[in-house]
Amino acid sequence: MGLSESAAQGLADVLPVLICGEASAELVFRAVESELPDDFDPDLAAALNSIADDEHRHGIWLDTVRAQLPSPSSRSTARHAARFLRQLACQDLGLHLTRVAALDAGVCMILAEVCARQTPIAASPPLLSLFTRIRRDEGRHVRISRRGAAALGADPSAQADERKRVLAALAALLVPQGPSLAAIGVDINRLQRRFELTGARR
Ligand SMILES: [Fe+2]
Ligand SMILES: [Fe+2]
Repeated sequence: MGLSESAAQGLADVLPVLICGEASAELVFRAVESELPDDFDPDLAAALNSIADDEHRHGIWLDTVRAQLPSPSSRSTARHAARFLRQLACQDLGLHLTRVAALDAGVCMILAEVCARQTPIAASPPLLSLFTRIRRDEGRHVRISRRGAAALGADPSAQADERKRVLAALAALLVPQGPSLAAIGVDINRLQRRFELTGARR
């Protein structure tokens, strides 16, 4: 992959956060069709369902990357990420989609920084193309999930509050990864500002 030792370690340390949502999002979107009301827009239902295939692919791609990296310096990152994900789950599908959309929006923001010019990832053509592809897919997921949540009656101001909460929790998950993010050219403070600014609008 052409990464320096420190960049490879930094990516290995941050990857559990990026990878955490893939398997659970796949499950959510595989099951979504059976949970939708009978009169739900079939095109939107199909779009929601198609996200599961993207997430399945992302999981495979990221596993392939992980296999080429050193072990993460700390095992607690994966544990904390799993707990964060468990807290997103809820019975109300509209609310759950709102939260998943917020997580995907956060992942898009992380990937935007990871792929920014002059980062080690940007200098690695295979990694840049992989993360750019995932970022594009996640942007699409955000749009579809938000439409799905709205169609299920999620209130816009409640959606905005929920998004802020999810992004704040994601930012808190990333704080201990500051040095690892720095090793892949990402400034944690800049990323947090991006979460706050974009999170409020999205
Ligand atoms: Fe994904
Ligand atoms: Fe996604």
